[in-house]
Amino acid sequence: MAAALALLAGVGAPPAVAAPARARPVPDAPLRALADAASVRVGATLEPAQIDDAAYAGTLAREFSSVTAENAMKWYAIEPTRDAVDFAGADAVLEFAEANDLAVRGHALIWSQDAFTPAWVRAITDRAELWTEVEDHVRAVLERYRGRIRRWDVVNEPLDTFGSARSGSVFDRVLGPDWIADVFRLAHAVDPDAELWLNEYGADWNPQKHRALVELLRTLLAQGVPIDGVGLQTHRLSVDGPDRAAFERVLRDYEALGLRVAITELDVAVAPDDAQGLERQAEAYETIVVSCLAVAACEEVTTWGVTDRDTWLDDLGLFPPPTRPLLFDDELAPKPAYHAVSQVLAAGRAAARASSPGDPTTTTTAPASTTSSVPGAPDPPTPAPAARPVAGAPRFTG
Ligand code: XIL
Repeated sequence: MAAALALLAGVGAPPAVAAPARARPVPDAPLRALADAASVRVGATLEPAQIDDAAYAGTLAREFSSVTAENAMKWYAIEPTRDAVDFAGADAVLEFAEANDLAVRGHALIWSQDAFTPAWVRAITDRAELWTEVEDHVRAVLERYRGRIRRWDVVNEPLDTFGSARSGSVFDRVLGPDWIADVFRLAHAVDPDAELWLNEYGADWNPQKHRALVELLRTLLAQGVPIDGVGLQTHRLSVDGPDRAAFERVLRDYEALGLRVAITELDVAVAPDDAQGLERQAEAYETIVVSCLAVAACEEVTTWGVTDRDTWLDDLGLFPPPTRPLLFDDELAPKPAYHAVSQVLAAGRAAARASSPGDPTTTTTAPASTTSSVPGAPDPPTPAPAARPVAGAPRFTG
């Protein structure tokens, strides 16, 4: 599988045409100031151990406006052994965020992949018993952080990693297909003011998966399930950026459901032998961030780490290390991708909309929001009830 994925990712393949390096004048402000002005959050991950890494933590606090715990708020970190609940890591990440005026993306209450579910949870075969554990966990986390963490990935990766069916996790097998709706309803009952998000891998590049995710969300919304937003992880398999029009249409498909949208786990691996890799990576980042800014519903871009020296991709076994997928290099120096993101943020949402290939004011083609990017999807999409408004959390309109 790793070999197939490496092929898919084009790892090691030299670029067909070497792109000329572009000079990128640097706006004289940290990303977070530029992002605030553009009404978007710019985030990165934090592990409890990184709080004591002055270079990492300092860069995070200076440049980013939001933080996601890379692991510390997951069930396997909070309760690795049944009833041995430990919030120390999660608390530490939250306290760091509060001390540095960072918003927090709570990640994630239920991760619907057996490989990332505590073994003791995975072993449960009785429906009532599993639901009791899910309910206890969701309640414990949401009650502990009520009023302090307002944005939650309630369900992570409900679909097959490279397919479009449900993932077949212990939650699917033992609780049955309605568990996603039940968990969102539970979360809303415990913390009615929290934003409730569903987070997924691969919908940014895999049209079948995007279609399946749109249909899942449309069905849940039609049932009145309280979902506010969809997080697109955006772990890119190739250094080459997405086609901007196609990427924007994906974002607009979720916007058309009435949902908020976020890029939640962005990283772009570079092959070690790709001489133009960092410049191509910068273009990929540019396309992704400008697309978010062009779509009013897109409120956050979070990168899955701060510096290349700490990326999870180097240990994943899918890409030859060093993958160098982030905005800062091993020495915490900003990379071409940083400058690209900085420029796009500085230019703001109006500029992003003006350059949008899907914007009806700049093209003669139909507005993107009425033309689904999903092959075979109904066109125009069947209207779904709009997602609920969140109390006290106005949507960014740019
Ligand atoms: C990853 C972390 O980065 C790793 O440290 C950990 O070993 C596994 O999880 N999708 C997600 C993230 O939603 O939580 C994952 O984070 C990366 C893929």
